[in-house]
Amino acid sequence: MPAQEILDRIDQLRRERSAVILAHNYQIGEVQDIADYVGDSLGLARQASETEADVIVFCGVHFMAETAAILSPEKTVLLPDPHAGCPMADMMDVPELRRLKAEYPDAAVVAYVNSSAAVKAEVDVCCTSANAIPVCESVEADEILFVPDKWLGTWVDRHIDKTVHLSSGYCPTHAWITPQEVTAMKERHPEAAVIAHPECSTEVVDLADEVLSTSGMVSAVRERPESAFIVCTEEGMLHRLRKEAPGKTFMTPSARCVCPNMKLITVEKILWSLQDLEPRITVPKEIADRARSAIERMVSTLAESPA
Ligand code: 13P
Ligand code: SF4
Repeated sequence: MPAQEILDRIDQLRRERSAVILAHNYQIGEVQDIADYVGDSLGLARQASETEADVIVFCGVHFMAETAAILSPEKTVLLPDPHAGCPMADMMDVPELRRLKAEYPDAAVVAYVNSSAAVKAEVDVCCTSANAIPVCESVEADEILFVPDKWLGTWVDRHIDKTVHLSSGYCPTHAWITPQEVTAMKERHPEAAVIAHPECSTEVVDLADEVLSTSGMVSAVRERPESAFIVCTEEGMLHRLRKEAPGKTFMTPSARCVCPNMKLITVEKILWSLQDLEPRITVPKEIADRARSAIERMVSTLAESPA
């Protein structure tokens, strides 16, 4: 089908089905461009909980669609490619989490939103990269068990006055960005500001002028005086930033920083998904009911900086 025909058909179906298309900042440009809302994990979860649409087409990865299904159990949540997972989320499962909870019985358990619904059902509160620090500050306990991202957990640990226990998960996509690459790019472009996602390693984060969630990056590039930015996160972010700040220059330190799961969603798959109302993402009621309050607390906690 010609490209314009696909877009027209998507528009027609989104009206007929009362559907909203939500896209993460790492989606391919064509998907971002047709979405009703493009944002970070926190913004997307908020949209999913507030939308009046009957159908949510989630252009992101599996844990994001699960979060939407938990927040809006009465809605149909579609993930246009069911294989779009998150390897970091897969680095923590329920038996390992229970083992860690037994090791640190006095710790409040905080799960990064990049985790399965089954893991979320076992924790006290969830957070995203935008509000990890305020969420961890807000828990009453002096000790925190933070799963699964060791790098985001390390970033939190540096900013709060509590003991933070970490697990060993990490994002394989952000791990591609090395401090050597960032340093080399800074030397070539000394005028550029470095913005980094907290899923980057501590060595990369230490080279950044600001450490931000993906939507935090959008606000930062609008507000900062520099006209060039070295962007340490998944390369889909460059499309969003170029649209938001067209007069500015954005560079990636590593061409390998591509999340293959985020790239599985295409406009063709969105069309098939709207036509068939498949693949649907559902969460068993027993798990959803136990995970919901931890996610709702995440959604209601303000981002550190406007996101
Ligand atoms: P945010 O968009 O919430 O910063 O998250 C990045 C990410 O890796 C999502 O998988
Ligand atoms: Fe998971 Fe990393 Fe991809 Fe985000 S960028 S979905 S954390 S693998």
